[in-house]
Amino acid sequence: MNNLDRRRFLQSASLALAGGYAQAVFGKTLGEMPTFAQRPTFKPTALFLTWQRDPTTTMTIQWIGSETDAAQRPVWYARKGSQLWRKQEYSTRRFPISDHWIFRAELTGLEPGEDYNFRIGTDSSEQQFRTMPAKDTNPIQFVSGGDSGTGAAPRHSNRLAAAQSPDFVILGGDLAYEDGEHPDRFLEFLDNYSNDCRDGQRLIPMVACIGNHEVVGGYEEGRTQAPFFYSVFDGLFPDTGYAALDFGQYMSLVFLDTNHTSPIDGAQTDWLARTLKEREDCPNVFAINHVPAYPSHRAFGTVDQPGTGAGNRKHWVPLFERYNVDAVLEHHDHTYKRTHPLLDGRPNEKGVLYLGDGSWGKIRKPTDMDNRPYLAVAAESYHVSVHRIEGRQQFHVALSDAGRVVDVCTSTKRGGTRRG
Ligand SMILES: [Fe+2]
Ligand SMILES: [Fe+2]
Repeated sequence: MNNLDRRRFLQSASLALAGGYAQAVFGKTLGEMPTFAQRPTFKPTALFLTWQRDPTTTMTIQWIGSETDAAQRPVWYARKGSQLWRKQEYSTRRFPISDHWIFRAELTGLEPGEDYNFRIGTDSSEQQFRTMPAKDTNPIQFVSGGDSGTGAAPRHSNRLAAAQSPDFVILGGDLAYEDGEHPDRFLEFLDNYSNDCRDGQRLIPMVACIGNHEVVGGYEEGRTQAPFFYSVFDGLFPDTGYAALDFGQYMSLVFLDTNHTSPIDGAQTDWLARTLKEREDCPNVFAINHVPAYPSHRAFGTVDQPGTGAGNRKHWVPLFERYNVDAVLEHHDHTYKRTHPLLDGRPNEKGVLYLGDGSWGKIRKPTDMDNRPYLAVAAESYHVSVHRIEGRQQFHVALSDAGRVVDVCTSTKRGGTRRG
């Protein structure tokens, strides 16, 4: 055995020993010491992170390429500062209406609150991700918005979001405006996000709910009519357009489908009631949906002619109030809006906050505020929202496209006393 072989053998042996337990439990391949290229020659297209299970211990990595791109390029990952490289193979699926493929690798059994290095194969550059902490003893910070599209404005919002070094980004529908039928547009949106939403080498995970522009026809369709959204997010949404993502015991994101591929009433409302009840003791619960319960641009409607958000107001708002949802992030109207805390549509300091209204990359003039007593703020302004959870306080800060703080409000962690 020459020196090089001997060193490799010893490395492999120590890796196998160190990782033996994890290999048995988590089914990972261990013990192979990758030789990474000194100069990267491969750049994965639209490489981005998302979650399908608890963000404290998992990470889902996806990218898009030709069928032969991925065969020799598993994901290699190791905790920052460690040389214990592990390998994860992909599940693959077709990128709809194209010759491309989606490569997905879910990493599980990760350490909470840790930085990891990873690479796509051995010939691409090193990237990083961070798992969410096991507890919210330190501040948690994330960014939200909706109605992105492609082009200069959403890319500016992407970079503004990334500059906040958020743990992750939530996009509340109308992501690419590909309308379920334009693969190039969806790919461009993902690639923009991949290039823009980075904090140094760290990729910032994206979670999302479905909007009308994900769907051929927009409303009351089946999942097959939203082929692009489900092609990359069906890990979190395997059967329906709604799902909950639980961060350990301290935060839950409840994603809803405002009648795009799942009706508002019936099964989804029953699920929402169960889901919120089960999370009554969780200190931070945020609902995310696309069409707003309390619109800032479109018609609210009357009793005879229910307008935008009537279904949410009838079926979901009573549940948000009963189970003390901390804030509802809702979009679709292309403005910046914040409501007063609301109970049954009326300002009440014990009420629920509704933040939106989808101006990551699209913009419209809001309606006259005098007609909408539920609105605290409405503005024709591109914006991203920064949410910071610090102890019992939740801070919500709206940043304009100039990076200026245009609005700040706080909510308090639910104490279990604000029952509707
Ligand atoms: Fe939109
Ligand atoms: Fe929309």
